[in-house]
Amino acid sequence: MGRISIARPSWDDEMRQAAITTLDSLRWVKGEQGKAFGHEFADFTGAIHATPCQSGSVALWAALRLLGIGPGDEVLVPSLTYIATATCVSLVGATPIFVDVEPEYWCISLESLERARNEKTKAVIGVHLFGQMYDPEIIEWCKNHSIALIEDAAQAHGGEMHIDGEVKGAGACGDIGCFSFFPSKNMAVGGEGGMLTTTLSSISQRMQSFVNHGRDETLESFEVGSNLRMSEVSAAIGRVQLKRLPSWVKKRNEIAAKYANSFKSLDGISVPKTRPDTTHAWHQYCLIVEKPLEFKAYLDQHDIDARIYYAKPCHHQKVFQNHHQYQQSLHWTDELGPKLVAIPVHHQLSEDDVNRVVEVVNAFTSTTN
Ligand SMILES: Cc1ncc(COP(=O)(O)O)c(C=O)c1O
Repeated sequence: MGRISIARPSWDDEMRQAAITTLDSLRWVKGEQGKAFGHEFADFTGAIHATPCQSGSVALWAALRLLGIGPGDEVLVPSLTYIATATCVSLVGATPIFVDVEPEYWCISLESLERARNEKTKAVIGVHLFGQMYDPEIIEWCKNHSIALIEDAAQAHGGEMHIDGEVKGAGACGDIGCFSFFPSKNMAVGGEGGMLTTTLSSISQRMQSFVNHGRDETLESFEVGSNLRMSEVSAAIGRVQLKRLPSWVKKRNEIAAKYANSFKSLDGISVPKTRPDTTHAWHQYCLIVEKPLEFKAYLDQHDIDARIYYAKPCHHQKVFQNHHQYQQSLHWTDELGPKLVAIPVHHQLSEDDVNRVVEVVNAFTSTTN
């Protein structure tokens, strides 16, 4: 009986073959694989264009640059997220303004956005936290206030919103979408990787050239960009992973449903809710746990990985010690951060693994009560 890990990327013969064929072709950069991966990813999400790049972090930085955000501008971000959601704003010389999350779904709260908005607000970065889609009303709110909406979809490959009978994939629920293919994510590319998507025709051409030093087909540079290109091998692996993604997200949803049913009446533990009219991508399955450290240690003793997300929200981290909100309390962010404990939900779990997780979580509550 081995350890049950919190994440494990998939690797199969078709992915291996795609990598080897691409290496053998000696076309290692700027080739057909990257172009095809971008087209296929755009089709999958419903965005009008997608450009592969080197990580989710550079995708966020590029998104802000493409929207012309810089010094003097404020960008509203949740603090209950991975640090890159906030530091990308500092990297372009703008100021991140931290706002609270919703108590029931843990994504950026519309009410807090309304309170934080002022004439310097140029963008919102919404995060589909743990694969939960953010409130669809944020899309309208941003449009109504002429505020750009960057979608941090690093944890939400395969998530969806159902609005008025229309399905919008993660990556098509804002102006620019940013994905990560870090190996722990819902899909990966055999190394570091990311994807930029857009729903704006005015941006797609620039997006494509931004990752290539802002050059056009004559190789003249017309805006400051950088080399953010994804390698052809990564793109070839990503194309195969993308074909598998719907079945993986379905599997994650099945495991989440089993957990919800098994843990619905445990003392000291609450199960996560799914926003109505959305498909949760279940990048992480977090329980709200009253004794998080004991719970994590108990799972560890029983060879099951667990992680606390995010015990120290972004605005309390040293990198923001000179930020005016460093000591400020954000009620739900500070309340939830130390109590959200992720248990394994990834698509590689076997039925035995899932049963073992259910047994051990149940046993924990009987030992503590
Ligand atoms: C919400 C969120 N945003 C951004 C990123 C950054 O992605 P990457 O690690 O590919 O740079 C991550 C990755 O962990 C993330 O979870």
